[in-house]
Amino acid sequence: MQIADFALERYFARWEFAVKHVLCASDVEPCRQRDLLELADDDGRARWDALTLGYTESLGLPALRDEIAKLYPGLAPDDVITFAGAEEGVFLSMHALLAPGDHAVVVWPAYQSLHEVARSIGAEVTLVPLDARDWSLDVDAVAAAMRPNTRVIVINFPHSPTGAQISAEQFARLVAIAELHGVHLFSDEVYRLLEHDAPRLPTAAAESPRGMSLGVMSKAYGLPGVRIGWIATRDRGLRARLAALKDYTTICNSAPSEILALIALRAHERVLARTHAIIGENLALLDDFFARNAGRFSWVRPRAGSVCFPTLLDGDIDTFSSELVERDGVLLLPASQFGYRGNHFRLGYGRSDMGAGLAKLEAFRPSR
Ligand SMILES: Cc1ncc(COP(=O)(O)O)c(C=O)c1O
Repeated sequence: MQIADFALERYFARWEFAVKHVLCASDVEPCRQRDLLELADDDGRARWDALTLGYTESLGLPALRDEIAKLYPGLAPDDVITFAGAEEGVFLSMHALLAPGDHAVVVWPAYQSLHEVARSIGAEVTLVPLDARDWSLDVDAVAAAMRPNTRVIVINFPHSPTGAQISAEQFARLVAIAELHGVHLFSDEVYRLLEHDAPRLPTAAAESPRGMSLGVMSKAYGLPGVRIGWIATRDRGLRARLAALKDYTTICNSAPSEILALIALRAHERVLARTHAIIGENLALLDDFFARNAGRFSWVRPRAGSVCFPTLLDGDIDTFSSELVERDGVLLLPASQFGYRGNHFRLGYGRSDMGAGLAKLEAFRPSR
């Protein structure tokens, strides 16, 4: 397989654990295992205490798939297949959906695997850009990009890196376009449940028989390290293909991770309350920051998710970011890591130390 480097992940591999402040993280402050276990119900605690470290069921622990299915009205546990994070779900979905010469329509900017895996398979990719003035999506542009060989439309709302959210009407139109052309709608919903200034969208899996919803424990649930993600879809043939491909990647999930994810999903009210408290505090800090620094940075306030994509108004963001990280240990993610032009950078507001990193960013003055 010939595949381009995943620029963002290579950048994180270089910096994430070497800096003091990761100001561009997309996850929410990770939970301590100890704190999570305190939220366990009796069954979850018993499963944890009795855990045997064997192989697990390839599709995922039935009780876990049962909890996940509850997130999708009308879906059953059999409609869910779990993976090692969302990333395995992206990789295997694209392999299940696409062959050389097929075509994919992908909303852009995007997490690189959402278009790069398709390219590596030999599929053609049409990127449909969001409008940089307000990060809105022109649904007509998606319709116009459709071709006879299109197999999948790839969307991601709440959106990374911009924090954009489309309306329910736009979502319904995307579902209709996919259905009209008989293609799958791959909906990366990893930032779902993080809506703060926009209504929550329905899910692709619930809305359409060929809809695919990608979910994960990494963002709203604050458990990126458990590496549990999933695809929910009512398309039985597709699920069978995903299951067959998973035999060549991870085979099954990590046994402890499945129980930890189960515990968090069952305690979702308390887990999500913690998440929204962190995000609410950080958004207030960001409102003040961008008001105070309007001459240096501009932003489109995010409507959902845990990331936004502000602009550096003076200077070059790549130079700025590299001096900031070398001198002050504050990591930003410049737009170039998404292959996107312009002076944008991704800023994450899910971590509880965001304020400290932001203060350093505010004090920083580049030498060039
Ligand atoms: C839009 C999007 N999709 C998928 C993923 C992959 O999620 P995970 O790292 O939990 O596998 C990410 C990670 O940041 C993401 O931002």
